[in-house]
Amino acid sequence: MNCVRENIEAMAGYVPGEQPKEGEAVKLNTNENPYRASEKAYDAIRAVADKGLSRYPNAVGAAFREAAANVYGVEPDWVMCGNGSDDILTILTRTFVGENQILRLPYPSYILYKSLAEIQGARSEEVFFNDDWSLPDYFAQKPATTATAPFRVAPLENVDPNSLKLVYLPNPNSPSGTLLEKDAIAKIADALPCPLVVDEAYADFAGQNCVELVKENPRVIISRTMSKSYALAGLRFGFMIARPEIIEQTLKVKDSYNCDALSIAAATAAIQDQEWLAQTTQKIVATRERLAAKMRELGFLVPESHANFTWNAWPTDELSHEELYLFLKRNGYLVRYMKYAAWGEGLRISVGTDEDVDACLALVEDFLNGRRD
Ligand SMILES: Cc1ncc(COP(=O)(O)O)c(C=O)c1O
Repeated sequence: MNCVRENIEAMAGYVPGEQPKEGEAVKLNTNENPYRASEKAYDAIRAVADKGLSRYPNAVGAAFREAAANVYGVEPDWVMCGNGSDDILTILTRTFVGENQILRLPYPSYILYKSLAEIQGARSEEVFFNDDWSLPDYFAQKPATTATAPFRVAPLENVDPNSLKLVYLPNPNSPSGTLLEKDAIAKIADALPCPLVVDEAYADFAGQNCVELVKENPRVIISRTMSKSYALAGLRFGFMIARPEIIEQTLKVKDSYNCDALSIAAATAAIQDQEWLAQTTQKIVATRERLAAKMRELGFLVPESHANFTWNAWPTDELSHEELYLFLKRNGYLVRYMKYAAWGEGLRISVGTDEDVDACLALVEDFLNGRRD
């Protein structure tokens, strides 16, 4: 007897980036930070471990809420902790989007949003970015009938304009690394009939963010991760910043103890070390600029990145991105080959150390010169 819900059986499921065995490849595929996290985070983990793990952690990660509130100039009840920002996105989707309702996302962007809608039995509306990575006005409007909405990847049948319940907007976006200015996002939030989640997984590399918008507009929610800029992807810690009346609802949806004692302590220590963050992001941004410049010099189209990766697409179909990806992998460098239905393909390369990026660039150049071994 198969009791699995139909929508779960029908969905493909989100597939995370490859995680090879330690030392098997240089990882430039999942936008991790190549540097070691603040020593204060490691000290905090050791201190908690020494004290023992027999007790449950604080259910809301109170120490982290306070530390993050200090950094962002809000009260602690504007912050909620998650087991990675994927947990935050899951909780938000479960809080706002029910069966047959609509969740909107730009395309191409973070693939998980669509999987989250599918789990809810909801419909996702994928709205194409414009060629310059801005968004069409439609993105801020109520969902319309098939005929009047040429911007969508797949047509939506029988649209109830009031069924749009949540909009995701990664900023900077993945895979492009491109950034929408705060004013453009404020305009979208003002026009929308539902909450707008600005997924700022990469905002620390952009030098600007939308935290002020949360204070100005009750519809704006910010999602953040410690996985990228804080070099703590293995820890699993993310958080959101939103009005207390929203947090009050999302707290009901999260697991009782969604963050463990080690991660709360380490994330708290890490976010308090803003000096480490500033120094590390500066290094990564400098390497990113070199990576982007060299890939352009080699002939790739590379939109201006505000994140810790670049999006690289060859201007014609004479180069197979997949072959280049496989060539780099054979030679020990793992990048992300992405192919988006109805849109196109390319390689997303995460910013590693200068040494790893230079070695990867040398291999790309070899490939363009005809090497295939
Ligand atoms: C746009 C975006 N949001 C969220 C995440 C999730 O990060 P984590 O669950 O590690 O916090 C990622 C990870 O790649 C991402 O690219």
